[in-house]
Amino acid sequence: MSGPNTDYDPVEVTPLKADQVEAMREAALAAIAAAPDLDALKQVRIDHAGDRSPIALANREIGALPPQARKDAGQRIGQARGAINQALAARQVVLEAEHEERMLAEETVDVSLPTTRRRPGGRHPITLQSELIADLFVAMGYEVAEGPVVEAEWLNFDALNLGPDHPARTMQDTFWTEPADHHVVLRTQTSPVQARTMLTRKPPIYVVCPGRVFRTDEYDATHSPMFHQVEGLVVDEGITMAHLKGTLDHFASQLFGDGITTRFRPSYFPFTEPSAEVDVKCFVCRGVESDACRTCRGEGWIEWGGCGVVNPRVLVACGVDPEVYSGFAFGMGIDRSFMFRHNLEDLRPLFEGDVRFSSAFGTEI
Ligand code: DAH
Repeated sequence: MSGPNTDYDPVEVTPLKADQVEAMREAALAAIAAAPDLDALKQVRIDHAGDRSPIALANREIGALPPQARKDAGQRIGQARGAINQALAARQVVLEAEHEERMLAEETVDVSLPTTRRRPGGRHPITLQSELIADLFVAMGYEVAEGPVVEAEWLNFDALNLGPDHPARTMQDTFWTEPADHHVVLRTQTSPVQARTMLTRKPPIYVVCPGRVFRTDEYDATHSPMFHQVEGLVVDEGITMAHLKGTLDHFASQLFGDGITTRFRPSYFPFTEPSAEVDVKCFVCRGVESDACRTCRGEGWIEWGGCGVVNPRVLVACGVDPEVYSGFAFGMGIDRSFMFRHNLEDLRPLFEGDVRFSSAFGTEI
């Protein structure tokens, strides 16, 4: 039987010799210090601290040593491993910080660089103005109604009490489509939407209709063959001129500013009786009638549109009983409203599509 190998000299177990352990530690520390990035450090960790690293393999030899030698060797290896792990952890922190900094630098976005060469464009000032007006009425409980721009002659004229001999039906004002016997026009006003609305729904009716209209006008600073109107129609029981006045005063103050009211001048429209022209108080001089005011030219008031109590003949033509219901209607030029809101003397830039003009008037992108 053989006894314990008392002759065994631990110094002779090569991997556990102090200078060998020291060499392993030095090699590991040098590799850690030299690791340029986190990937390299991962490999260094495997090579110098992993299960198959020299130091781990040396550690396994400890068990083969006689008990009195184990302590020394264990301490030596343990200290070396501790130093290696500490160096790994420290280097990890440094490399992570470097990585972070590099990412931040690489991913920096220069917000001052131009994005695209082409301007993205935006919505037309008249579209914005139309929506503003529609919103204003929606806030009062109205609905937005629409109609086609290519319209039946009957709806554009006859239903609105504009008989065949009315001057507005002559070729001068109206774009007729061919063949003429189809009786189709480009609508000259948004008023046919009144007729369409009454024909398709029952009172109470509260609608507003912004849209394009066409007339054979010369194109100049104040006329265009295509322009925009907004039509309003209310049909309900007991509606009077007083409701119309209150509604238009509210409309005016919302669009032009607090305290801007309207005044009515007697007028004639075939579809309303009585009818009135509406003026809005000049929102620049606020009705002072000073010659210095360029907006109203000293008038104190600006012509805004037409209005009135819906003619019972129109109600009858559109299937509404005038014994039960009455209504009011109004129509304003949207381009005109825009022009005096912004003190423009020429409406042509509104229709010429120069984005520099549009963007000057709060075009949203
Ligand atoms: N349609 C008329 C025009 O183009 C404007 C107008 C006047 C509309 C009176 C109305 C109204 O609804 O009641 O000149």
